[in-house]
Amino acid sequence: MKTIGIIGGSGFYNYPELGETNVISVDTAYGKVNAIAEASLNGNKILFLPRHGEGHKTPPHKVNYRANIEALHQLGATHVLAFNVVGGIGEKCAPGTMVVPDQIIDYTYGREHTFFDGFENELAHIDFGEPFSEEIRQALIKTLSGSEFEYLNQGTYGCTQGPRLESAAEIRKLRNDGCDLVGMTLMPEAALAREKGLQYASLCFVANWGAGMENEKVLIDNILALLNSFVPKIREIILKTTRFL
Ligand code: HPA
Repeated sequence: MKTIGIIGGSGFYNYPELGETNVISVDTAYGKVNAIAEASLNGNKILFLPRHGEGHKTPPHKVNYRANIEALHQLGATHVLAFNVVGGIGEKCAPGTMVVPDQIIDYTYGREHTFFDGFENELAHIDFGEPFSEEIRQALIKTLSGSEFEYLNQGTYGCTQGPRLESAAEIRKLRNDGCDLVGMTLMPEAALAREKGLQYASLCFVANWGAGMENEKVLIDNILALLNSFVPKIREIILKTTRFL
């Protein structure tokens, strides 16, 4: 039996497909995490954690990423599957596409981004050359290949600070840097998971083109409308993926 954490992003606050769940709160050295839903599925234990808290009250730059990852670690998770909503920058990253990213560029600042704040722990400099678990990435790709979704099995995620969306010039800079996707929530989450020794990968849903890439403005209402129409299918993809882990 594996213990698999699932971190839900925007639009993904509950998990009816899990059936009966046990709702847990965890006290960590970094703060309390409420509303983790625990369930058993196909012989695995699933821990569903809504990244932005109950009712999406916490914006991306204020999420307590350390407490979230520590709580999953304390509950025995070895694998974490994250869901992130993004804007598309790469040519093939049109709205509606699913992407399993393989690289990250971190543009965030001022976030609590490490468990290794002092030098008391020897492992202060983790390897992050390949930021994602290839095991989980391949499981996601296998699930997507049998689904109706258009998907890409690699891409570079540029993580911006938010909560505002980007300027057109910022999106051009990200594109020049090699980013295919832009979002606000993958970092420091991915790095913290690596610091705790967790297998971690992300499934990204492209909800809009990056700012300035088409004539229309990027509006959060349009992003959420497209996302909401896909969320039940996204929840299904993630649960199917846990079977391959
Ligand atoms: N920028 C940043 N984060 C996002 C976007 C975007 O265009 N779309 C969804 N999350």
